[in-house]
Amino acid sequence: MTLLLKTSFYSHSHSSHFLSSTAMAMCSSFCPQIPYYLKEKPYFSFPSKPFFSPSFKVFSSQASNVSAKADALPARIGFLGLGIMGSPMAQNLVKAGCDVTVWNRTKSKCDPLISLGAQYMPSPEEVAASCDVTFAMLADPESAIDVACGKNGAAYGIGPGKGYVDVSTVDGDTSKMISAHIKDTGALFLEAPVSGSKKPAEDGQLIFLTAGDKSLYDTVAPLLDIMGKSRFYLGDVGNGAAMKLVVNMIMGRFCKFYTSFIL
Ligand SMILES: NC(=O)c1ccc[n+]([C@@H]2O[C@H](COP(=O)([O-])OP(=O)(O)OC[C@H]3O[C@@H](n4cnc5c(N)ncnc54)[C@H](OP(=O)(O)O)[C@@H]3O)[C@@H](O)[C@H]2O)c1
Repeated sequence: MTLLLKTSFYSHSHSSHFLSSTAMAMCSSFCPQIPYYLKEKPYFSFPSKPFFSPSFKVFSSQASNVSAKADALPARIGFLGLGIMGSPMAQNLVKAGCDVTVWNRTKSKCDPLISLGAQYMPSPEEVAASCDVTFAMLADPESAIDVACGKNGAAYGIGPGKGYVDVSTVDGDTSKMISAHIKDTGALFLEAPVSGSKKPAEDGQLIFLTAGDKSLYDTVAPLLDIMGKSRFYLGDVGNGAAMKLVVNMIMGRFCKFYTSFIL
């Protein structure tokens, strides 16, 4: 499946319907059991003034865990942040045969990855300097900025020919700020927040909502396919964060709606 849609949304009546149906198309990847009639009709209202108005150009791909070919993968992959989500994501890369170098603020969380065959570097700067592509899965905007742009951060080690993929959930402004720091070095940047939780992360069933440098998206697509089941490319940096917000709202409303029937 390739080009799904390209549009802008401004007015309330059109935007709420368009936005919800776009995100619902994505939600059916997350939650195929969403009833058909809920996919067809928007069942909540957005504010009368649009709260953002991006132009999305959505490319989607249903990933297959067997699609990655070793010779198509970036040679060295860095992974920063080995929490609930980052640890299984990095493990799936190692198990798929990738050459992975890890860093985590609490070093002991690197040990299971090192046991599986990953290498360790003592700072984000050194990971980024030694890898072709570096993923970051941090707790929040503050930690994402600190690890990318702070002292010994990835921006000090990265440069032309390399890429930085932030898979943390952060707001669009944070993502744009990190992107600016990374791109100032000559490297490429992709935001790629995920939908899913611990179990989908362990099973390689995450969904990536990506935006930023398309060439980096193409480069890391086989890696996203190892860690996830679907990926969407949404254009400019900030659109991934915006779509993650929309999907969270829809899923939250759906869960509330669904539980009201079973309780
Ligand atoms: N958990 C989920 O179900 C889920 C689902 C979708 C998306 N997400 C998103 O995924 C991201 C990671 O979530 P998670 O559940 O994996 O969180 P987590 O288990 O709390 O892990 C957070 C990671 O961030 C690191 N960190 C926190 N503050 C830091 C700082 N100041 N400097 C450096 N590193 C720092 C932690 O290092 P330490 O180990 O040293 O604490 C850890 O590696 C978040 O953006 C979250 O919103 C989570």
